[in-house]
Amino acid sequence: MDFLWIIYKKIAIFVNQYLNCLLQSMKNVLVIGSTGQIGSELTMKIRREIPGSTVVAGYIPGAEPKGELLESGPSALADVRDAAGLAAIVEQYKIDTIYNLAALLSAVAERKPLLAWDIQMNGLLNILEVAREKGVAVFTPSSIGSFGPETPHDGTPQDTIQRPRSMYGVTKVSTELLSDYYFYKYGVDTRAVRFPGLISYVTLPGGGTTDYAVEVYYSAVKEEEFVCPIAPGTYMDMMYMPDALQAAVNLMQADPSRLRHRNAFNIAAMSFEPEQLFAKIREYIPSLRVRYEVDPVRQAIANSWPNSMDDSCAREEWDWKPSYGLDEMTRDMIKHLKIKLGI
Ligand code: SER
Repeated sequence: MDFLWIIYKKIAIFVNQYLNCLLQSMKNVLVIGSTGQIGSELTMKIRREIPGSTVVAGYIPGAEPKGELLESGPSALADVRDAAGLAAIVEQYKIDTIYNLAALLSAVAERKPLLAWDIQMNGLLNILEVAREKGVAVFTPSSIGSFGPETPHDGTPQDTIQRPRSMYGVTKVSTELLSDYYFYKYGVDTRAVRFPGLISYVTLPGGGTTDYAVEVYYSAVKEEEFVCPIAPGTYMDMMYMPDALQAAVNLMQADPSRLRHRNAFNIAAMSFEPEQLFAKIREYIPSLRVRYEVDPVRQAIANSWPNSMDDSCAREEWDWKPSYGLDEMTRDMIKHLKIKLGI
């Protein structure tokens, strides 16, 4: 009897997994962290590009949406640490997909490890529980930060050693594991990518190791000296924001029967060290001046991360392909920053 019950449960979970995935439509979306570096652009992209979608811009006090983000759709207070509040939003808007973008980035998480754990892990658990109860799909990004010093640094494989030593990294590996657990155990449609450092002219990142690659563009356009916290020769994967957003949307719309992995896919676009980035910017703004003042915390984190990831699984399983390389990104960044800063 017990044996039959186990078989029955296994079949029920399997059917649930695939029905959830097939029914996945992304009509009513909640973006948690909608005013952050990724959320501010992802919310607007889905509102603009997915016909008939309602995207609720989730925020926390002190980071309320403004302007177009506020006016172009609904918004709601969505603190990942408030499980009841999340359930109420999911209920009210009949949410089918959550983009969980709440996180402290790597350098800040080293300063506030308990808060990082609370937001990244306890918050995730609240989201996954709501998702399990209400049949919601969940995207919680992982990162190059989920790797550590023992990981092969060049052509970092999809499935490899993940023993990070930063709190950010510890929470990101745990995010991957917990998200996979909810998929295999309960059939929750969890999917994610491992984002490289993300570069954008819209919203500044807040306290990451890869932030230098955004900030230098601001200094270049403003003709101010840039003080670089990362040492020359430090390679890291980077990506222009439009590619990152497209990945987040495409993966959640991918055919589930093709996905052999879930949490989380390596995705890559370009890898460079500071001098290569500065040389590229100087092709357009020759006056760029740089001085190095290496931050030991950020440098130790950067040294433990991949130089470049192998993203062939994402390419095979859901046709991932970036559109921007270093040159295209640099031209676009400078053009838009000049407009933004009125220069
Ligand atoms: N950009 C992030 C950071 O530097 C990595 O995911 O913390």
